Amino acid sequence: MIHNEVLDCIRARRSTRQFQERQIEAEHLDAILEAATWAPSGGNCQSWLFTAIQNKDILTKINDLIREGLQRWTPDDDYPSKLKAKANAQKKDHHFFYHAPTLIIASNRPHYQNAMADCALALENIFLAAHSLGLGSCYINQLYWLRNDPEVRNYLFELGILKEHAICSSAAVGYIGKESSAPLRKDGTIRIIK
Ligand SMILES: Cc1cc2nc3c(=O)[nH]c(=O)nc-3n(C[C@H](O)[C@H](O)[C@H](O)COP(=O)(O)O)c2cc1C
Repeated sequence: MIHNEVLDCIRARRSTRQFQERQIEAEHLDAILEAATWAPSGGNCQSWLFTAIQNKDILTKINDLIREGLQRWTPDDDYPSKLKAKANAQKKDHHFFYHAPTLIIASNRPHYQNAMADCALALENIFLAAHSLGLGSCYINQLYWLRNDPEVRNYLFELGILKEHAICSSAAVGYIGKESSAPLRKDGTIRIIK
């Protein structure tokens, strides 16, 4: 197995689901957001928008909107995480981004086929950059599921995210409260044809 800083960072990054309360340093946030903008993008569009939120009241409001939105929402399939999120939405104290002090929402311009692909690549840059700085992070999908929820969109609009924008995903970032263990890698997912 080859070891170097990048490969070891890729292997060691985990999804954090318990964060410390303290905020991340401003220069770390800048570095993570800059890393996002260095991701590849279809046709070099760079049409993404990364909205980082560190205000406690706004984060609480977003969590409330997610909880209320999920109660109204009907999943379009029986994907277990969606069913679990619906059940969690019944719990008043459930926090969908684990009380992370920073949430970065990735959105993209409307009617752009590569919107999700570009933002997903940028998010992985965010996760790896965060890990390299000693921070934890987690992909948070609920805002994507609720991308057409009028109440969620009205509030995101107040935060400067245009209603036509495609909400792709979000990243919770903060100091790790509890380490996550590494899931085993599944066999049979790689083929090499020579
Ligand atoms: C498309 C996508 C959506 C995800 N959504 C969530 C989510 O909403 N909440 C969450 O806690 N983790 C979410 N995750 C994180 C996965 O659960 C996690 O990556 C997986 O369990 C493997 O663990 P690891 O990231 O620690 O290797 C998501 C990951 C991806 C790629």
